[in-house]
Amino acid sequence: MASVCFCFWRPRVSSGAGSGEELKALLPGEAAARLQSLRVVDGRAVLVIDAEGLDAPARYRLESDVVAALGGAAGVDEVRVAMMADKAAPVPAPSAPASPGSRPPRILAVGSGKGGVGKSTLSVNLAVALARAGCKVGLVDADIYGPSQARLLGTEDRRAVAHEGRLVPVQSEWGVPVLSMAHLSKPGQAIAWRGPKIAGALVQLVEAHWDGAELLVIDLPPGTGDVQLTMLQRFKPAGAVIVSTPQDLALMDAARAVDMFEKGGVPIVGVVENMAGYACPHCGEVSDPFGAGGAEAAAREMEVPFLGRIPLDIAIRREGDAGTPTAAGNGPQAEAFADLARRVRDWLDRTG
Ligand SMILES: Nc1ncnc2c1ncn2[C@@H]1O[C@H](COP(=O)(O)OP(=O)(O)O)[C@@H](O)[C@H]1O
Ligand SMILES: [Mg+2]
Repeated sequence: MASVCFCFWRPRVSSGAGSGEELKALLPGEAAARLQSLRVVDGRAVLVIDAEGLDAPARYRLESDVVAALGGAAGVDEVRVAMMADKAAPVPAPSAPASPGSRPPRILAVGSGKGGVGKSTLSVNLAVALARAGCKVGLVDADIYGPSQARLLGTEDRRAVAHEGRLVPVQSEWGVPVLSMAHLSKPGQAIAWRGPKIAGALVQLVEAHWDGAELLVIDLPPGTGDVQLTMLQRFKPAGAVIVSTPQDLALMDAARAVDMFEKGGVPIVGVVENMAGYACPHCGEVSDPFGAGGAEAAAREMEVPFLGRIPLDIAIRREGDAGTPTAAGNGPQAEAFADLARRVRDWLDRTG
């Protein structure tokens, strides 16, 4: 399993397009020797570098050298460096049995009563923030009809393979292995299944080769349907994080989700308020398009913990669409996700 640290992010303005090969040729020797992958998407160069055996100052030097080398290159507006601290989990060898005695990962469900409140955005950023903090975490996209994690983790072009009857998760560049229906179907293909088949799909995603993962974050579809029931009956999550926007309608749905988990005997880790407060990129004035503080008050009323706020920020949307999760960067929003990850981790440590 990979433990990963994303370290450098520097916006630049340039024009023209440099290919991956051209950019590789610009890298200093050590960075080139340790390079695991390099891709350029919409002017953003994303490098994964093997940092095995390097101490913090040496990593910092290496990152700075990479950013200095690529920051001014044609077609590169940003440089992101992901430092892999150890090697990615090996795909099991064809004849290898599942590691005997290894503990199955604990399950953290991320739910909401309502769609569009940012469950998927939160799940992916929470998973990346947990991975940055050293947690061995995988991500299951349980939204069978509307999968989004392949896009959010930049793995849309990858297909999951099966090994000995179980799926092998797709390794993302962000230290988080992932499985989604989008890794099993053709891009844009509609999925029109009924209940039992949906439940079967969820089982395949969760009972995959997650060897080495200590935690699976499960991005649930909205509401309280077949997927949620299968999740509760078959997999008994260790806890559930509920996502809501601050307005009353979303909060009513969040209360329904809390109720469903509580009835299923799943402890509520807490409620996160997403899209809380919008800072105008032009004048800086902060407004509250969906209200303010509603989720915290609702959490208090439901007697469940409040885990914090994630602001409405266009960068979170843009970075999600580009497959480069905000939590992998260094800005204030990455810090908001890191705070959330700390709270979730504390909870898991206390209850584990
Ligand atoms: N904090 C945020 N700031 C800006 N955009 C956000 C934020 N959270 C989510 N979004 C955007 O809102 C839309 C819905 O989010 P998504 O995570 O897909 O919700 P859900 O999984 O609950 O349906 C997406 O376009 C996403 O990029
Ligand atoms: Mg979603």
